[in-house]
Amino acid sequence: MGTKVIRKEDLMDAVVRRIYNCSACPLHAGRMNPVPGEGSLDTPVIFVGEGPGEEEDKTGRPFVGRAGQLLTKMLEEVGLKREDVYITNVVKCRPPGNRVPTQQEMNACGHFLLAQIGIINPKVIVTLGGTALSFFLEKKVSITKMRGREIPWIGGKILFPTFHPSYLLRNRATGPGSAYDLAMQDMQKIKGFFDKYKKI
Ligand code: URA
Repeated sequence: MGTKVIRKEDLMDAVVRRIYNCSACPLHAGRMNPVPGEGSLDTPVIFVGEGPGEEEDKTGRPFVGRAGQLLTKMLEEVGLKREDVYITNVVKCRPPGNRVPTQQEMNACGHFLLAQIGIINPKVIVTLGGTALSFFLEKKVSITKMRGREIPWIGGKILFPTFHPSYLLRNRATGPGSAYDLAMQDMQKIKGFFDKYKKI
């Protein structure tokens, strides 16, 4: 009689199946595909956006549209690959017209994100934009004031807010002190966290 080891992959598959079957909020009705998240389950760093956009809804994959391509490029610039980290969102189904998810939608969906965090057990949670940060802090916050700070969270984890890549696409300056410049400084720090906390 051997001991049955529960694998992280199986736990995550169970969460993903529940996301596929979920109809807890109105967003499920308009989706083509839910977007659970993807990446390494052993990563010390996870990225959390707001919710899927059009391209994500079509493909079922997070951050694959224009904002996602920018995020991928920024990761690569500091020597990280998408597969090294886990990438997900607060809500798993696309809000119509890419509007911000409502508090009710975040309340209905947020337990999936918390379950994913429980499985992966990352040290650092990078929140992309104000919506994701507000979800964790349970209050409205200014991303401009909070970005680049290390905010202690539950269980010794660190929240590390940075700009949402969509914001960087709307603010195209890249010179010193620009949003992009600050976001790249954040990304360098994220690489530092990754190296410091990676499980070997
Ligand atoms: N914006 C988000 O917040 N998440 C995605 O997956 C894509 C764009």
